[in-house]
Amino acid sequence: MVIFKEIGPLKAFLADKTSQGLSIGLVPTMGALHHGHLELVMASKKANSITVCSIFVNPTQFNNPSDLEKYPRTAQRDITNLDSVGCDVLFHPEKEVMYQKPSTIKFDFGKLDKVFEGEFRPGHFSGVALVVSKLFNIVNPDKAYFGQKDFQQFKIISRLVEELQFNIELICFPTLREPDGLAMSSRNLRLNVEERKSALFFYRALQFAKTELLKGTDLKSVQTKVREMCSLEPRVRLEYFELADTENLNLLESVKQPTPSILLVAGFVGEIRLIDNMFVEN
Ligand code: PAF
Repeated sequence: MVIFKEIGPLKAFLADKTSQGLSIGLVPTMGALHHGHLELVMASKKANSITVCSIFVNPTQFNNPSDLEKYPRTAQRDITNLDSVGCDVLFHPEKEVMYQKPSTIKFDFGKLDKVFEGEFRPGHFSGVALVVSKLFNIVNPDKAYFGQKDFQQFKIISRLVEELQFNIELICFPTLREPDGLAMSSRNLRLNVEERKSALFFYRALQFAKTELLKGTDLKSVQTKVREMCSLEPRVRLEYFELADTENLNLLESVKQPTPSILLVAGFVGEIRLIDNMFVEN
């Protein structure tokens, strides 16, 4: 695997590959890679000649300085893992490379970035859109790969690609789960043994809610029951538990076939904020 820390040499390397007619797949990450990330790399390798993974803990998407500071950083292990799945290129820039001076650009996605993560993490999606735009400009990929766990992020990036007319195909890859159902996340590394057990609440709540909604129970009743379940988990503090249509993420009060819908949940386990989601379909 070739490792680049600067933009110029990476662009020159990739321009040479593109001029030979080779296709490029990009897997943008913030490191602390888990199997979910490696699946994205493997999917990209299947569909593209060259796979670039980026590792950059993007400061502009963190609304909480302590969250940024404590975000897990495991560069050496990440490099070994990327090598093991045959990733071709790693882009691993320092902050000064990506932000030569403080950025003043702000993105506004209308309703899409005012709900769920947008409501609880103001400015988060503007920072995501900014860094993803930079990565798309630098790498100029044919395809880019993202995980379904960050479904709202995927919708935001889809809107970004559409409005800025990036010629990039976006791929949303299903969430990978631990054997007990916990969604894989870099933040799981920060959970202690007790918190790790409590974190399973999110998956259990999603499964319960999906079953109830498909039986015809309305969301309000489901939310009441989920809050009761949560009150039995002293380490868990729920932020939101909602149902939305998968197209525009408009809130729904019940499952209305044939509108595809998704349950979205976020909350804290101790100090660690986790999110998860689940499509609701028959
Ligand atoms: O999903 C992530 O890891 C990040 O939000 C991303 C897309 C790499 C942008 O920093």
